[in-house]
Amino acid sequence: MAHIALAIRTDNLTKIYYMGWGRYQVGVRDLSLEVEEGQIFGLVGPNGSGKTTTLKLLLGLIFATSGDAEVLGEPMGSPRAKQRVGYLPEGPYFYEHLTAPELLRMYASLFGLGGRQFESRIQELLELVDMWDHREQRVANYSRGMRQRVGVAQTLINEPDLLFFDEPTAGLDPIGARDIREVILRLRGEGKTIFLCSHLLKEMEPICDNIAILDRGELVGQGGVEELLAGEEQRYRVELRSPSEEMLAGLEQVADEVVWLDDTCRALFADRQAAFEAAARADDEGGHLLAVGPDRRTLEEVFIDAVGEVAPDASDL
Ligand SMILES: Nc1ncnc2c1ncn2[C@@H]1O[C@H](COP(=O)(O)OP(=O)(O)OP(=O)(O)O)[C@@H](O)[C@H]1O
Ligand SMILES: [Mg+2]
Repeated sequence: MAHIALAIRTDNLTKIYYMGWGRYQVGVRDLSLEVEEGQIFGLVGPNGSGKTTTLKLLLGLIFATSGDAEVLGEPMGSPRAKQRVGYLPEGPYFYEHLTAPELLRMYASLFGLGGRQFESRIQELLELVDMWDHREQRVANYSRGMRQRVGVAQTLINEPDLLFFDEPTAGLDPIGARDIREVILRLRGEGKTIFLCSHLLKEMEPICDNIAILDRGELVGQGGVEELLAGEEQRYRVELRSPSEEMLAGLEQVADEVVWLDDTCRALFADRQAAFEAAARADDEGGHLLAVGPDRRTLEEVFIDAVGEVAPDASDL
């Protein structure tokens, strides 16, 4: 078997928070994960499922109750691992009176970097996140998207091999979120490993290579995105938005199964030709055809199967 280099390996990682007065709260329990080098790995789960806890454990910001993990071949939290990682926290805070180059200079100094030769690196990073043209502007006047983009640039100061991003697109508009995703993909193109926490399933689906699903601190699903989403073999689907009653009755007659997700009706067929014929008919009759092709689940469906309910922030999905 080919050797797969791992960027992260966790072994029954557990964090139980002590709340005082004899009360405990599970942060994450018995988590065993493997993250391959050079991948975008998505840790998904509802609010409070333990995503940020996992990330802080791996960064050495909090200590495990039990279990172990290696980050870039070093024990989690070790100074050698820390030198090679970058971290974008949930809703990062920056000094409001600084400009982006000043901010990056400050972070660089924390790594003992800086000096005149470093200025070209700052320009390169700000260009990567499309902030070079805004270099005179102070953080106080930034939009949320600009803050996140500078936050991403900050994580890259020490040329890390592994990046931890906690909800990097939360609160951004669709364009802002797309910009961040593009930067993430570009970073993978440069060979970096990206560990991404998010509950925004629609955003994770197209960019992640592997995904782990957490629910109340426990792992309830893990795998390659393609494997997780692959539908039953040899089935074809036709998806329509809010078909008329007549159209639905027609579909129910020819399809093997009809299922609903919100206002989307999905008809499943064992026979490819029957699926394409049904799609063509629905289209001719003025139906709102969304898709026809091999069956594939959405990450949201995988998630609902695993967690047993819809993601709490369904409005964001
Ligand atoms: N410092 C803490 N002390 C006590 N309990 C905590 C602490 N930090 C987190 N928790 C609890 O641990 C559980 C996991 O929280 P965590 O922040 O890791 O979840 P999350 O998946 O990142 O959630 P979100 O999507 O809201 O960011 C929650 O029940 C939370 O209340
Ligand atoms: Mg969190």
